[in-house]
Formats: sequence, structure tokens, C-alpha cells
Amino acid sequence: MQLPFEIFRDPRAMRAKAEDLRRDGRRIAVVPTMGALHDGHLALLRAARGKADVVILTIFVNPTQFGPSEDLARYPRDESGDLARARGAGIDLAFCPDAAAMYPPGSQTFLEVRELQKPLCGASRPGHFAGVATVVAKLFHITQPHVAVFGEKDYQQLAIIRRMTRDLDFGIEIASVPIVREADGLALSSRNAYLSSEQRRAALSLSAGLAAAEAAFAAGERRAAALVAAAAAPVRAEPAARIDYLELRDAVELTELTAVERPAVLAMAVFVGTTRLIDNRVLAPR
Ligand code: PAJ
Repeated sequence: MQLPFEIFRDPRAMRAKAEDLRRDGRRIAVVPTMGALHDGHLALLRAARGKADVVILTIFVNPTQFGPSEDLARYPRDESGDLARARGAGIDLAFCPDAAAMYPPGSQTFLEVRELQKPLCGASRPGHFAGVATVVAKLFHITQPHVAVFGEKDYQQLAIIRRMTRDLDFGIEIASVPIVREADGLALSSRNAYLSSEQRRAALSLSAGLAAAEAAFAAGERRAAALVAAAAAPVRAEPAARIDYLELRDAVELTELTAVERPAVLAMAVFVGTTRLIDNRVLAPR
């Protein structure tokens, strides 16, 4: 039976609804987002639709995962547009709390996935993944899902959420969706909205670099230094782009690798102007 669409803003009311649905034997999927929904988010919602009876979209621009000099204040917000788009993708319920509801005065408990949070984005964004892990754990408690869907675009985030879910016995299936890209290769991101047309062109160097590294890998290259150099070349050729990191790491533990002898991830963060973009490619020997 189709549920009437409802928006929840109060964590207690959302949780009570989710508990009712579970009591009725419904299987719940949650898709956590920060809004400004694009086709990447919609792919997550469609995947969730195929995995559960009830799909809950959460929209919350989580202040605890933004650094003091990051883009929290100007992060794009369009709740009514987001809800219209998400309803088109078949969501049943939305949870859209404000910061005071999620972090009442005195909140001081944070969750950390100690090793996986250290490299890559964790090194450039101190505290970011503690904010992500904490808010995702809270969203899990509030929405009581059987399954939660995340994108492979945020590769380290996905690894951290999988580990947290396992380590703390959440008993939730974590499903992932491949990176959704524009026709020209640019990975969809809410932050692409910040790019000028010239910067958008320069941003193509991220996916071009990953494609070059993948071609080298397909031709037999296994050395980390050579694969990283292949990926870096198109980015370095763009005056508007500056590499924050570009590294080859173990696909599961995110430890450093000198060569691809087991599944690896080539992950990068690049500033294009002041906008920080991320992209990655998994390279796996057969
Ligand atoms: P946000 O950046 O809004 O992303 C929400 C989800 O969409 C994440 O799982 C992300 O990996 C996925 N996503 C974004 N762009 C994608 C693309 N091009 N292809 C596939 N999936 C894509 O990630 C967050 O929000 C937050 O950190 C959150 C998990 C909600 C916690 O606050």
C-alpha cells in the first residue's frame, strides 16, 4: 500500500514513524543527502526503491562535517526543488531537520573510524569524517533502515560508513551506487554549481586524468608512481586546477600502495579556483 508522502522535521516523530513501519513488517531504505539533488542522488534513490518498501530521503546540511573556512554558509539549498525531484524518483518520506534539532545545545558525542578517517580527504579536512560518521549514525537511529544507499563518488566516506556499520553492529545493509557522470566525464556534484564555464572545462581534467591512468593500467602499468603521474598530467596542465591529493591506496583499508597487486583506488581532490572537487577510480588486477 502506497504511503501518503510526508516530510518530518522532528527526529522523534521520524523515529516513531519508522518504528511503526517496521512493526508493520515494512522494509525501509534510507538515502542520506545534503540536498541540492542532482542525477547522482536520484540514482541512489532509484537503487533504494529497488531494495525496500519504504524509501526515506534525508536532507541535512550537516554543520559538523564542514571546517571553519569551508562552504557551509553558501552550500546550495533548494528544499522544495529537491523534494519535487525526489518525489519524481519515488520516495515515500523525507526527513529534513534543522541543525538545532540534530544538535541540541550540549551535544558533545562524536564517532570516529580511527584509521580510515586519516588519509585523503581526512588529511585535508580535519574533523570532517567524525562529523560524517556521527550524523550518519544519528540518521540511522532516527530512520531505522534495513538498508542505506551511498555513492561511490565519496569513496572514503563509503569505506568509513561500511566500517562503522560493521564495527558497531548496526545491522544495516550498506549498498553503493557507481559514480554518475556528465556525458563529458565530469562527476556530478552539488559543488559543480560553483564553477564558471572556464572552471567547468578545467574540471574535466580530473576524469581525464583517471581515464589516462586506467588506460595505463589496462596496458599493464602497475606502479603507483606511474599511475599517479598519468592521472596528474592533465590536471597539472590546467592553470586553474591545483591538486590537493592524488594517491593510490588499498581499496579497503586505504593504506598506501607502491603497486596495484590487489584492488586499489586511485583517489584525487583538486581545487578548481576555490571549489574542491573529488573523483576516483578503482583499479583491480584480474
Ligand atoms: P551529499 O554530498 O549530498 O551526497 C549524498 C550521497 O550522494 C552520497 O552517498 C554521495 O556519495 C552520493 N553522490 C554524490 N554525487 C554522486 C555522483 N556523482 N554519483 C553517485 N553518487 C553520488 O555525502 C553527503 O552528502 C554527506 O556527507 C552525508 C552522507 C549526507 C552526511 O552528511
